[in-house]
Amino acid sequence: MDFHILTLIPEILKPYFNESILGRAQKEGGIRIFCHQLRDYAANKHQSVDDRPYGGGAGMVFKPDVVVPAVRDIKAKHGVEHVIYLSPKGAKFNHQKAKELSKYKSILLLCGRYEGIDERVLDLVVDEEISIGDYVITGGELAAQVVVDAVSRFVPQVIGNEEAPKNESFADGFLEHPHYTRPAEYEGLKVPEVLQKGDHKAIGKWRQQQSEEITKERRPDLFRPHVCPVYMALVHHPVVNKNGELVTTSITNFDIHDLCRTSKTYGIEKCFMITPVEAQQGMVRYIKNYWMEGFGATYNETRKEALDEVEVAASIEETCLTIEKNHGSRPLLVATSARPQKKTISFNELQALMRSGKKPVLVLFGTGYGLATEALDQAQYLLEPIKGSGNFNHLPVRAAVAIIMDRLLGR
Ligand SMILES: C[S@@+](CC[C@H](N)C(=O)[O-])C[C@H]1O[C@@H](n2cnc3c(N)ncnc32)[C@H](O)[C@@H]1O
Repeated sequence: MDFHILTLIPEILKPYFNESILGRAQKEGGIRIFCHQLRDYAANKHQSVDDRPYGGGAGMVFKPDVVVPAVRDIKAKHGVEHVIYLSPKGAKFNHQKAKELSKYKSILLLCGRYEGIDERVLDLVVDEEISIGDYVITGGELAAQVVVDAVSRFVPQVIGNEEAPKNESFADGFLEHPHYTRPAEYEGLKVPEVLQKGDHKAIGKWRQQQSEEITKERRPDLFRPHVCPVYMALVHHPVVNKNGELVTTSITNFDIHDLCRTSKTYGIEKCFMITPVEAQQGMVRYIKNYWMEGFGATYNETRKEALDEVEVAASIEETCLTIEKNHGSRPLLVATSARPQKKTISFNELQALMRSGKKPVLVLFGTGYGLATEALDQAQYLLEPIKGSGNFNHLPVRAAVAIIMDRLLGR
C-alpha cells in the first residue's frame, strides 16, 4: 500500500517512518511512504503557501491555488485513490476506519498548519476529513503518522503476525486482556496462576473474562457482551395461514430491507430469506444486486452495507448447512412464535446460552400466521413470546425481529 503525505515539513516525518516496524515494512515492500513538500507547488515569487484569512483573525490559511494543484498533481502521477485532510473537525479516527483505509492501494494525507486550509480545497479535492481526537495539535504531521501507523498494521505482512490485529484492543469490540512477562513475582505482585500453568483453554477463558471486565469498566460505550455467531432467518415455508394450513408466503421488499437493517444494527452474521420458490429466490438476489452493484449502491451506501447481510436459502436445512460450512458446527435452532407454547426458553436464558456457547445460533422467524409445526419441531429451543400490554397479539414480523434482537443483543 502507498501513503502519500503532503506537508510543509517532510523532515519531521521521516525519522519516525524509517525506524522499527514501519521502516522494515518499507524495506520489505509491504508499504511505501512518500512525503511531498507543499512549497514545491507554490508558483509565486516567494514560494508562499499561505495567506491572511478573509474576515480577519489570527493565523494564516493554506492557499487553494497551491494546495489544489498539488493534490491533483500527486493524484495523477501516483494513482492516488483517496484524499484525506487531517483536521480536528473530521470524523474521529478509530480501529474500524484504519481497517477500512487499508483496503486502498494508495491514499494521500494532507497536513494543515496554522489556522488550516482554505475551505475550497475540501470542496474540490478532499474525499474525507479525519481527526485523531478532540484536541488541537499544531500541525497535521503527527496525525498523519498516527494514521499511517494504524492503517499499516492491517496491511498483510507489516507486523509479521497476521493474527495480531485480530487479537488486539478494539478488534472485536473489546479492550485487550493484561499481559505479564518474567519474573513471576515482582515487588510482591504475582503473575496470575492460570497464566503459568499452560492450560490453553483456561488461559483463553481468563483472557476473555479480563477483556470483558476491563472494557465494561473503562469503555462502557464499547462494551457488548461476547456472544456466539448469531444468524436469523425469515421463513416463508413451512408456515401456516390463518386456518392453520401449511402454505408458502410471498417475500416482500419491505421485509428484505427492514430485516437486513436490523440485522446489521445488531451485528447478526447473515439474514436468510428462506423460500423454496425459485422465482422468489431470484427476486431477492435481484433486489440485493440492485443495492450492492446497481444504481442503489451509489445512491445509498449504508443500504448497500445492510443488503450485504441478505442471503437466500431454499429451506431451513439448507440454511443450517451454509452456517455449518462457515463455522464448522451446526447451528442451534431457536424458533419464535407469538402463540403461547408449553416449554419455552426465556430471553435471559437464551442470552446466557449465546454468551457461553461456541456454536452459532440461528433464530427463525415465521411469516403468515407463524412457523408450521414441522419447523417448530426442528428447533432445539422455542423463545418465549413478546408480550404487549393488552390482548392484541399480532405484531408485524419486522417489529418482532427488532424487539427480539434488541432484547438479545442490544446495549
Ligand atoms: C492548529 S491546527 C488548526 C485548527 C483549526 N483552526 C481548528 O480550530 O479547527 C493546524 C493543523 O493541525 C492539524 N490538526 C490539528 N488538530 C488535529 C486533530 N485533532 N486531528 C487531525 N489533525 C489535526 C490539521 O491539519 C490542522 O489544519
